[in-house]
Amino acid sequence: MEAYLISTMDAFVRPELVDFNGISMTRVFTSNWENVQNFQARPDDILIATYAKAGTTWVSQILDLLYFGQTERQKTLPIHERVPFLEVYLPPNMSGTEQADNLPTSPRLIKTHLPYQLVPKSFWEQNCRVVYVARNAKDNMVSYYHFNRMSYGQPAPGDWNTFFQNFMEGKSMYEILCGVWTLVLLYLADTEREIDKLCSFLGLSPSAEEKKMILGGTQFDNMRKNYMANYSTFPLMDFKISPFMRKGKVGDWKNHFTVAQNEEFDEDYKTKMTDPTLEFRTTI
Ligand code: PPS
Repeated sequence: MEAYLISTMDAFVRPELVDFNGISMTRVFTSNWENVQNFQARPDDILIATYAKAGTTWVSQILDLLYFGQTERQKTLPIHERVPFLEVYLPPNMSGTEQADNLPTSPRLIKTHLPYQLVPKSFWEQNCRVVYVARNAKDNMVSYYHFNRMSYGQPAPGDWNTFFQNFMEGKSMYEILCGVWTLVLLYLADTEREIDKLCSFLGLSPSAEEKKMILGGTQFDNMRKNYMANYSTFPLMDFKISPFMRKGKVGDWKNHFTVAQNEEFDEDYKTKMTDPTLEFRTTI
């Protein structure tokens, strides 16, 4: 497996950011656009919408366990096959839309990082439920930096200071993080209490035993060890640079931001975050 991954990464040219409908994106997310736009959602589809690195995999695992339990599927299919990433297309792999079309489950759990305005209209026409996951922007940004270092499917981030400047200049889909999705249907911030909120939003009533199983199965250390949840089977990622399940903590931004960067970020954030009712914890 390792030899395969390395040779794939060697041959792969990291994508560049391009302006796509006013949003910075790469060919990985735009090259299958016609099929993305025309994607036919079903009324019971559940869309997991996030800014990248906000906790998508965590919530995907929670929802997959809630709907389908600890079955063979959990043990044999990696999370990116159980919950397809709608807009991704990394040939020769199947596109996200194809994967979603072929999903045998009901409901289908589908992941997207698209901003609100670019989500295929069939999700709204079918009145699908959307679980939006948000994370405090500073830790989200730090996580994204390390992800860009280790994932060859992402533009090269440069060093932290370069990444920080580019991010502040909107070269990282930053706009999506701040505001566009403030029409959220559900806002997630914490685990145990939030599973209850998720269940009431989705009309589910798991038993106490099932809830215990879900809490255990979605703890950071357990997901980190779980090959079907930790992305170790996904091509183009070099875990020697940084693991996908990196720290899973609130407050790691303090190990990255300088005092000046923190001030610059806070100033800018105030102007971009249009919904003052959304409160995030940047420390615990
Ligand atoms: S992606 O690529 O957009 O799907 O990434 P995403 O899953 O949204 O975000 C990855 C970050 O989420 C952390 N993570 C968790 N934290 C706590 N508990 C659990 N169970 C968990 N699962 C994933 C993961 O470690 C990444 O954050 P960082 O800060 O880099 O550790």
